[in-house]
Amino acid sequence: MEMLRREYNGIPLNKESVDPNPILQFSNWFKIAVKEIEHDPNAMILGSANRDRQPSTRTVLLKGFDEAGFIFYTNYESRKAKDLAENNKVSLTFYWPDLMRQIHIQGSVEKISEEMSDQYFKSRPAGSKLGAWASKQSSVIESRSDLEESLRSFEKKYSHSEIPRPPSWGGYIVNPHRFEFWQGRLNRLHDRIVYRKEGEDWVIERLSP
Ligand SMILES: Cc1cc2nc3c(=O)[nH]c(=O)nc-3n(C[C@H](O)[C@H](O)[C@H](O)COP(=O)(O)O)c2cc1C
Repeated sequence: MEMLRREYNGIPLNKESVDPNPILQFSNWFKIAVKEIEHDPNAMILGSANRDRQPSTRTVLLKGFDEAGFIFYTNYESRKAKDLAENNKVSLTFYWPDLMRQIHIQGSVEKISEEMSDQYFKSRPAGSKLGAWASKQSSVIESRSDLEESLRSFEKKYSHSEIPRPPSWGGYIVNPHRFEFWQGRLNRLHDRIVYRKEGEDWVIERLSP
């Protein structure tokens, strides 16, 4: 494991230099990640905890963000959807190793409107649309061939018509109340700048690494 050790020497991050608005600060970093990161710069780890306080994490893709929050799409009957129905408090973590940067977001999640989900579903390639019909996400299946057979049956069903959005598929938006921007620095003295919401305002603080 020692060979995995590396020194971090990222660009300094200060309370004074960050944008007072964490969404704009996120946007600044995200733009750089999109430019610099070869694969999946929009991949984020979604953390949930169910009614029994059992945490779970999995990767999802960020598909939009603005002042209202961070949007991802998934199956509304999946394991994560059950967690979110039981407890709407979630976390999102982006890790961009090449930039020595991590962003951790905490907030509450809710479903987006059906219209918004329809709009996004329409923009997906046919294969992804059919995949959403074919997969009952997180359910136990006998074999891979069952899944492929299911895909073929939906291919046939929708071969001459537009593929509608499955009712069990759609988006969620995470409304943030805390952000932490982490920048790797020398000698493990990393920069950590936190924004926490107080009323309508964002309070900015530095944390010890
Ligand atoms: C890079 C990457 C991106 C992913 N993006 C999504 C996504 O946007 N939506 C989704 O439902 N699952 C996505 N997945 C799969 C999830 O990580 C997970 O396996 C799936 O959603 C089932 O999770 P659950 O059983 O906790 O509900 C992605 C996986 C990876 C590795």
